[in-house]
Amino acid sequence: MNGDVPLGELLQKLRGALRLHFSDHIYATPDLDARLLVASACKLNDYAPLIERDRLISKEQQEKARAYIERRLKGEPVARILGEKEFFGYTFKLNEETLVPRPETEMIVEEALSYVHKRELSNKMLQIVDLGVGSGAILVSLLKELPRAVGFGVDISFKALEMAVINAKYHGVDERFFPICGNFGGALTGLFDIIVSNPPYIGLSEKDNLSIDVREFDPFKALFAGYDGLKAYRDLFPFIRKHLKADGLAVLEHGKDQAIALQKMAKSADLCVFETFLDMADLPRFLKILGNDRINS
Ligand SMILES: C[S@@+](CC[C@H](N)C(=O)[O-])C[C@H]1O[C@@H](n2cnc3c(N)ncnc32)[C@H](O)[C@@H]1O
Repeated sequence: MNGDVPLGELLQKLRGALRLHFSDHIYATPDLDARLLVASACKLNDYAPLIERDRLISKEQQEKARAYIERRLKGEPVARILGEKEFFGYTFKLNEETLVPRPETEMIVEEALSYVHKRELSNKMLQIVDLGVGSGAILVSLLKELPRAVGFGVDISFKALEMAVINAKYHGVDERFFPICGNFGGALTGLFDIIVSNPPYIGLSEKDNLSIDVREFDPFKALFAGYDGLKAYRDLFPFIRKHLKADGLAVLEHGKDQAIALQKMAKSADLCVFETFLDMADLPRFLKILGNDRINS
């Protein structure tokens, strides 16, 4: 039809624009970005732009693909443009109040699952809480992997929580997912087997050092925690002290320069057994805390 162009040609042209724009960015992935954006604009699977190069693309779809690429050129991350992100093998829908889940955060899920499997607890009705649940990435992944567990997802943002509920439904775990809108542990009572959190941990003083895709496109509430970035942990540690079962596990994500400060805070909060562990880039990014009956184990 008039104005239609082959998919391969469209991809080549739009990829060229991204390559040029991101030529100085060592971590940029212009080829992958172009393929995903073009595929989505044309309502095709992610690999179609590589293997269906002769498929004709309508003018309307070309315009949509161009609009996506324009947004990417302005720094908007691909996941924001597509409105979804893959995490632990599951797709999570996003809105403007949810953080784009990061690959390193999957280590929280791995650590919690390893704890459950080592102790052969996977058939128990474990009670899990995710403080700052966002899109639901951590909690929904855990509920998918642990079919008898129940999870409480807390978030201060009602809109983020709405998205977590949609994701819990989409993945078929909504009957075991309990959303709570409020300040971290403020609304919760009782004891938990597993407490997970990837809270906001960036200091307001660091705002200008962030890359544009984070600063401009991730929600403020998901990123910033007071001037020093430690504000959220001041709520989280007393909560863990009070609500983690004696044989339970808590895993918290934090910034790469915060490990020592957090160990000190954990000690002051009377938490006895804790350990920092590294992310995939060997940076200290997580604190694992065991319940207080582990003092001698
Ligand atoms: C870094 S994001 C993490 C989101 C999700 N868990 C993930 O890992 O992708 C932090 C989340 O904490 C929420 N949050 C910030 N302050 C909070 C507070 N005082 N109480 C509860 N949730 C809060 C934000 O709205 C945001 O969804």
